[in-house]
Amino acid sequence: MGPRVKRTLADHKDEDRMLDIDWTTEEPAVTAGQLLVTPLRADHDPEALGQRFGAAAKQAVEQSPFAAKPGDTFTFTREVDGAMQHVMLVGTPSLTDPAALRQLAHDAAREAQRVGAKHLVLDLHGAEGLPAEGDDAPQVGNLLAQGLELGTYAYDRFLSESGRRPASLRAVSAWGRSAAPGDGSTHGQIVAAAVARARDLGNGPPGLVTPTFLATTAEQMVESLSAEGHDVSLKVLDHDECKALGMGCYLGVAQGSDEPPRFIHLTYRPKGTSKARICLIGKGVTFDSGGYSLKPTDGMLDMKLDMCGAAAVLAAFEGATRLQVAYEVHVLVAAAENLVSGKAYKLGDVLTASNGKTVEINNTDAEGRLTLADAMIYGSKLEPELMIDFATLTGACIVALGPRIAGVMTNDEAAHADWMAASERSGETMWRLPLPENLKEQLKSKIADMRNTGERWGGALTAGLFLSEFNEGRRWMHVDIAGPAMASKAYGVTTPGGSGVPVATILELLCGEIQTTE
Ligand code: BES
Ligand code: MN
Ligand code: ZN
Repeated sequence: MGPRVKRTLADHKDEDRMLDIDWTTEEPAVTAGQLLVTPLRADHDPEALGQRFGAAAKQAVEQSPFAAKPGDTFTFTREVDGAMQHVMLVGTPSLTDPAALRQLAHDAAREAQRVGAKHLVLDLHGAEGLPAEGDDAPQVGNLLAQGLELGTYAYDRFLSESGRRPASLRAVSAWGRSAAPGDGSTHGQIVAAAVARARDLGNGPPGLVTPTFLATTAEQMVESLSAEGHDVSLKVLDHDECKALGMGCYLGVAQGSDEPPRFIHLTYRPKGTSKARICLIGKGVTFDSGGYSLKPTDGMLDMKLDMCGAAAVLAAFEGATRLQVAYEVHVLVAAAENLVSGKAYKLGDVLTASNGKTVEINNTDAEGRLTLADAMIYGSKLEPELMIDFATLTGACIVALGPRIAGVMTNDEAAHADWMAASERSGETMWRLPLPENLKEQLKSKIADMRNTGERWGGALTAGLFLSEFNEGRRWMHVDIAGPAMASKAYGVTTPGGSGVPVATILELLCGEIQTTE
């Protein structure tokens, strides 16, 4: 049975439930309209195929280009005791790769949606490395459950009823030789719900997903998580409260918009003793026009995505709480819009951050680092063992690493190792970039302590270096998700639009051991 957690996979849906995933060693009964997905290895025995599905199916497969190579699929329909069952044969890659494992389940669920099946039977007998036994079983269950849930994800709340295709899939039987993922399956469903929550926020239009909307989302999260019995709390600071704290950089960005800024601070405390205090900060620019350094239409087109860091940490907060991680988690978002108006900040302005550092603005489009600066100073006052910020920060990071890989910059080797290990388990790809001291001179100003942008080349690094001025000497990591936060086309378990990256990695990190020795 699936967990009774609130469904957030497609936010217009009113059911409160996720998929019912049943792990079984017995062949599930064939029902009408069911989809059976059977992974096959390239060296599978064609005779066995004939015995199982009949001579006609065997012949059809043989006459097709299907060679059970990774990515190959062959679909047909068969009759079993009067019930028509859809069958999809898939070539399996090596399933020791977490991303491949999750994708197998994802593709199966997507096919179920395509044929309108309510019940999916995922036959794990032919899958290499599966079913996993012993120590691996929970992680395999986790990844399969994630894939299954994400396979039903769609963002359709702005489609009229006639354009929607409500999810058909309700139940999954994962059928293998051993059937014990432990709580891995439930775990995976919670991770997927968090990923979907981040996608929903990222996909939301900027007129809807405003700073106030993010704050309200945090409020609703705390309400339901508290009702579930978790120790969570929320503080939302308005403009005046941020001003009293001296957050001049953040408020400088926010001042061009009529939407009021909202500084969000969520706290989760574990039931037992906390292993450490972790602070997660997300860039929450709900629309980035560039300000007076105005972006051209092409560059502005996707700038509703500029709150995907915030979406990730808010969603990860919800997931981490439901997974009852052993760390005290603080989530911070300095939410604002970057617009032009008679009140907007200008090139040449000097802003003062809450630690007293002054910043000359030489580009109003480098706004994310300004909002993050004050959030990092606030975060450092919480004295966390580790502080991580997630931000759609620079186009330069996309130039460096392409659209699917996040850039990681840090002053701490142990944090880097823990994060990369978590990303390998989650299947979300990351790569480290340096913080070269000698580029810091690009951030020098003649009239202020620093300026907000350097030269064009290495823009991801100078952005990281700018942020490093505000970590207040603490262990800190910066993850630039400008590339992977949104997908222009489907890949892996990602649908076009908000990807939910790096929610799964954050949750892997918080569920594992984080080194805290300095
Ligand atoms: N939000 C953008 C970064 C971005 C660009 C994210 C493309 C996703 C896709 C950020 O605020 C920005 O505008 N950065 C500038 C920095 C520059 C002015 C130093 C950029 O990347 O051009
Ligand atoms: Mn910008
Ligand atoms: Zn931005």
